[in-house]
Amino acid sequence: MKNIHLIAAARPNFMKIAPLYHALSKESWCKPSIVHTGQHYDPNMSDAFFRDLAMPKPHFHLEIGSGSHAEQTGGVMIAYEKVAMAEKPDWIVVVGDVNSTAACAMVGTKLWIPVVHLEAGLRSGDRRMPEEINRLVTDAIADVLWTPSRDGDANLLREGIPAERIECIGNIMIDSYEMLRGVIEADTARAGLGLAMGGYGVVTLHRPSNVDTRAALAPLVDCLLEVAQRVPLVFAVHPRTRKKLQEFGLLDRLSGARAIRVVDPLGYIQFMNLVTGARVVITDSGGVQEETTYLGIPCLTLRENTERPVTVTEGSNRLVQPGTLVDEIDSVLARKGRAGRVPDLWDGNAASRAVASLKRRSGVAA
Ligand code: UD1
Ligand code: UDP
Repeated sequence: MKNIHLIAAARPNFMKIAPLYHALSKESWCKPSIVHTGQHYDPNMSDAFFRDLAMPKPHFHLEIGSGSHAEQTGGVMIAYEKVAMAEKPDWIVVVGDVNSTAACAMVGTKLWIPVVHLEAGLRSGDRRMPEEINRLVTDAIADVLWTPSRDGDANLLREGIPAERIECIGNIMIDSYEMLRGVIEADTARAGLGLAMGGYGVVTLHRPSNVDTRAALAPLVDCLLEVAQRVPLVFAVHPRTRKKLQEFGLLDRLSGARAIRVVDPLGYIQFMNLVTGARVVITDSGGVQEETTYLGIPCLTLRENTERPVTVTEGSNRLVQPGTLVDEIDSVLARKGRAGRVPDLWDGNAASRAVASLKRRSGVAA
């Protein structure tokens, strides 16, 4: 029996872990366990996702919480090393690009436990992003690299990763969406906010480059106020962003605007119910760029670059600057925004490809 640790830490990890946990749970050759590092801990940043995605309580909880990069990364390493040494898992699966991803990959590799990186190979080319450092570190040391799209394979090969370590399994977030499609469609979040299908925009922002300084955040707030004169907005505010809006005295301006609904972070089902009915999405989230591409919903990403270029070259995503956001909104509202196409292997079957890969690499007969 192979023991497999699935590392979950922050909001975007949960929808990547859930399909793999469910698929592995059905296999007789392995036993998956969820290790929650506690990087995200508010009920609406963590528990809500375990509930929505039908996952059990984490088997191990490290309760690390917030801190500086070094505090968080070091804290996860110290806590997870104890668990890994005691449990001796056969595999450690880390996902995405958060601090806990790189921390647990380093722990596993140094204990000679094979590490798999789910969502490997993505590169923004921007080393000012903490996530880019986490991606580079994790991919350099992981034993198996599961990429979501072929550009990931090309990036890894260019960095000298041996081809036999790389497998394109596709985008596992789409598995979560497909698993819950019926429930998402039936959810009442949109109706509860009095929003008409196709008649509003959804906003999320949390990248430090957009929200951590007043110089970046204040013009964004002005832009959103202007956009809201054209299309009503729902802004699901990340805790980092709420803190900064309050610190800079900007929250009341947003909350006071008639056409902007400022809400707390939403659970996955509620949030996706809003996204599926949106006319446009304005974001700096990695995952939301992918979900809108899958759904063919115009997405305006407030960033200079993206580690998910297929969402731009094939999907419905466009990179925009605060200065061009209002024009871009006009263009979308004039229905010039294109729906794009769904990238290869974003088909709801990534988890079964991942299971087949682990089974083969574990030497278990087919
Ligand atoms: C983290 C990830 C980022 C990911 C994002 C998803 C890193 C470096 N960053 O950013 O890649 O896109 O999660 O949402 O790993 N906070 C709470 N409650 C919580 C969690 C956070 O109030 O449950 C607040 C705290 O004030 C904390 C701040 O948010 O200091 C930032 O949290 P942190 O996990 O450090 O980074 P994120 O911005 O959430
Ligand atoms: N999401 C959610 N509720 C929200 C905002 C986002 O469920 O209020 C989901 C979203 O659908 C996607 C994931 O969270 O699946 C993305 O996480 P986030 O934007 O926090 O991180 P990133 O992808 O940028 O690392």
